Amino acid sequence: SNDNKTVNERLLAICQLLEKHIDYYNWVGFYFRNGDKEELKLGPYVGAPTDHTIIPFGKGICGQVAVSNQNFVVPDVSAQDNYIACSITVKAEIVIPIFVNGENIGQIDIDSNTPDPFTEADERFLEFVTEKVSEVLS
Ligand code: SME
Repeated sequence: SNDNKTVNERLLAICQLLEKHIDYYNWVGFYFRNGDKEELKLGPYVGAPTDHTIIPFGKGICGQVAVSNQNFVVPDVSAQDNYIACSITVKAEIVIPIFVNGENIGQIDIDSNTPDPFTEADERFLEFVTEKVSEVLS
């Protein structure tokens, strides 16, 4: 029922709110499955522009979440061998999948310039956010 522009404006507003109010959320964006392809496509985001607008399933933290359907909390990105660096300032990352009718259709991805900043409270809070996003997309 929502047109794409309205949905993307709402998703961007979520990114802006999160980045503005949580000091250790330094890049906040959405990736979504790109049609029927086994890849993610960058959606609305706030933060430094990234070259990684398309990420194959399995590649990087985001691509792994597309396959695992699980939250992925990375306290130290330098310790990950399957990691795609978007900015050298990033120390940590959290990715939470988004489910619509039980299907993993994308994710919220947050990078932090602070080492090991994410707790279970971030996971619970971001699961709440992704559930709201799921409602927006339904
Ligand atoms: N670091 C991610 C790539 C996306 S950038 O963080 C925006 C990854 O390893 O999948």
